Amino acid sequence: MSKWIPLEQVENHPEASQAEISAAMECCVAQVRNNLPAFRDHFPAANSENNFYTPGPNTDWTSGFWTGEVWLAYENAKTEEDRALFLDAGNCQVDSFLERIIIKHYVDHHDMGFLYTPSCVSAYKLTGNPHAREAALKAADQLMTRYRPVGEYIQAWGAMDDPNNHRLIIDCLLNIPLLYWATEVTGDEKYREVAEKHIHTAMKYVVRDDNSTWHTIFFDADTGEFSHGATCQGYQDSSAWTRGQAWGVYGTAIAYKYTHREEYITYFKRVADYFLRHLPDDICPYWDLSFGNGDDTEPRDSSSSAIVICGFLEMAKYLPEDEAKYYTSLARKLAASLIRGYQVKDSSVSNGQLLHGTYAKKTPYNTCTNSGVDECVIWGDYYFMEALTRLINPDWNMYW
Ligand code: GLY
Repeated sequence: MSKWIPLEQVENHPEASQAEISAAMECCVAQVRNNLPAFRDHFPAANSENNFYTPGPNTDWTSGFWTGEVWLAYENAKTEEDRALFLDAGNCQVDSFLERIIIKHYVDHHDMGFLYTPSCVSAYKLTGNPHAREAALKAADQLMTRYRPVGEYIQAWGAMDDPNNHRLIIDCLLNIPLLYWATEVTGDEKYREVAEKHIHTAMKYVVRDDNSTWHTIFFDADTGEFSHGATCQGYQDSSAWTRGQAWGVYGTAIAYKYTHREEYITYFKRVADYFLRHLPDDICPYWDLSFGNGDDTEPRDSSSSAIVICGFLEMAKYLPEDEAKYYTSLARKLAASLIRGYQVKDSSVSNGQLLHGTYAKKTPYNTCTNSGVDECVIWGDYYFMEALTRLINPDWNMYW
């Protein structure tokens, strides 16, 4: 038996029906409502422990995803009472994000987009909340401080004066929309210019010849020339970390949305194809794409599937009709797998939305420690809700 099912088998997988998608969203909205008493003024950790998140401060790179869930619940709520509840909680959390960026609490990294797009750009787009606008613009300014003109990329992690930290990571493609939004609302082109330079550099290096992706790319500190690719969270340098590939799928769709560069459509198709050719029987990937059927001791990463669905549905907007139909249909198949096999449908089982995510799994060859292995991960919950929102309303005004 092959580790991965043939592409035709993925293409023959059943799609989620519209009724299933609506029911799945109702379940998500109810779960956000259930969680509000504990998580109005506090934020879930990046991952659950035994499938339950505990409340904590607004300090991690992941805190914005919970607020994003609250805004998606607000958009999908069926009653005025629910809308009022979610509006109150969303606004309360926006104030926390404003405070965080004013006092610069845990913002010395590139994840300003992951933090401030689903929490504050969303709030501003939906309600015009001026605190949300101020917070997100300050976050965009903070992100700009990570830009390296020599090499033309945004540095992911670490101190800017540390020569060993001159690197970008594929995930950053999702931080970039914050900069486009900042140009849109201020009219200042400097944000867009940096965004485009970073996208261009990232696209040049992250996609490998076999269509898999590098997680991280290092540059020479003096010349800004490409040095080498490496992994942090994948199984090993040469393997394809599943979530990195998923960020690549959604990231290339976003890159095309903002730049309209035709070659990014080609990159999108290549990274999507690699993902689709490395799926096990139920089409929900393992945490690294080198694993598949038979690797039963390895955990899945359901969050990657949710991210890929969003990428497919975003790219479908810009493709010719037959190709748009193809990726939309694949998105519905991936969604069917998540809804039927991974969604939390009983709040006594978990206070998350999507089971079987993996944040980071240590191996002899990577540089991370174990955390959130086979757990709910908060971005998985958020992107699952975003995926359902997109399937319910293809004209959804995206936060990114
Ligand atoms: N951006 C970090 C992760 O995907 O785990």
